[in-house]
Amino acid sequence: MHYLIQPASVRDAAVTVPGDKSVSHRAIMLGSIAEGVTEVSGFLAGEDCLATMGAFRRMGITIERPAETELVVHGAGLHGLRAPDGELDLGNSGTAMRLMAGVLAGQDFAATLTGDTSLTGRPMQRVTTPLTLMGADIESRDGKPPLRIRGNPHLVGIDYPLPMASAQVKSAVLLAGLYARGRTLVTEPAVTRDHTERMLRAMGVPVSGRDGRISLEGPARLRACPVRVPADLSSAAFVILAGLLAAEADILVRNVGVNPTRTGVLDILQAMGGEITLENPRNLGEEPVADIRVRSSALRGIEVDPSLVSLAIDEFPVLFVAAGAADGATRFTGIGELRVKESDRIAAMAAGLRALGIRVEEFDDGAVVHGGRFAGGEVQSFGDHRIAMSLAVAGTVAVGPVTVHDVAAVETSFPGFEACLEGIGADIRCVREDSQ
Ligand code: S3P
Repeated sequence: MHYLIQPASVRDAAVTVPGDKSVSHRAIMLGSIAEGVTEVSGFLAGEDCLATMGAFRRMGITIERPAETELVVHGAGLHGLRAPDGELDLGNSGTAMRLMAGVLAGQDFAATLTGDTSLTGRPMQRVTTPLTLMGADIESRDGKPPLRIRGNPHLVGIDYPLPMASAQVKSAVLLAGLYARGRTLVTEPAVTRDHTERMLRAMGVPVSGRDGRISLEGPARLRACPVRVPADLSSAAFVILAGLLAAEADILVRNVGVNPTRTGVLDILQAMGGEITLENPRNLGEEPVADIRVRSSALRGIEVDPSLVSLAIDEFPVLFVAAGAADGATRFTGIGELRVKESDRIAAMAAGLRALGIRVEEFDDGAVVHGGRFAGGEVQSFGDHRIAMSLAVAGTVAVGPVTVHDVAAVETSFPGFEACLEGIGADIRCVREDSQ
């Protein structure tokens, strides 16, 4: 399956994008181990979160889905999960695997977590090391999935300095900490998304967090509460950039999560000259949201502040496209984590931008992108949803048609992406190879 994007004018529009992936995963996981019924609205019906839903159903949790984006999770309490009858396949989702490893560490049964080719190539020692210290018994294939997790109902809390800024690892340790005796303390080298902490607090677990030191006391029981999922800023970022790059557009993206641990992308685009304003800021349950207005802007190259990296970790592919269209060079440093995402995102974006005529210098943990004008051409997604969507946005302002190959993975995080881009005036067609 590929995208064919033809030059067309992005224009004024008001759109919504699907629910936040991180919050949707957590709503299922925490709802499943809470006491009571968790009603979820705005759920992201993408493949990653559906994989999490399938896995918890296979551990005996009843999850109703009265509408596409609404769930009713019947929590079974901290000790209510049952051994699944086979391997749990989490598809493409690193978040599902790492956070579930934390939950499974505290069970009195064993389970195996596996995934697709991308996920089974990703590093898992980052979670198996702390979870083993807490008392779980985990086998892996040289630190990679499948993970065979033999839970231990007698976990003990740890004081764990995270070796890398990762909300997934922080969350895995905190979720295991719910089951452990005593205090679990995680120290982060840089602030990462705090959705787990917010949802745990909403479910009645006292979580303290100051200066990147987050702790809770186990064992801790969760009380179900409604979860309203905001629209995903990581998905909105594609629309935001398409609007900034357009010749003349004013685009409103409604009801987007603007948790300050996620908004690095807005700071970086504003520093590049992007005209972005947050309107009608408010709270949706535990999460701050706003309507984001974007007006076409001339972007300029900058040195991206490395302290913003963990706050924009998923938006670097689209930021590479912003840099490719900017006036002058943009330097990215401290982004080595991008090499172990769904693909090696530094290499993938360097290849994609070069294929569109942009000069890119690539380093181990960074890149310099020399802005210019995108030519038409053929680019690869490397099976990575965010690479596919970022290069599609480049196509909206290229001087000729752009073909993005291998785009099926877009379904993991942004069902309806093509329709959304069409809604702002882009000319994008999704072509199935067998329908040509
Ligand atoms: C996520 C954390 C990030 C991010 C991922 C979602 C989460 O990963 O890239 O898409 O929901 O906790 P890391 O924590 O590994 O950086």
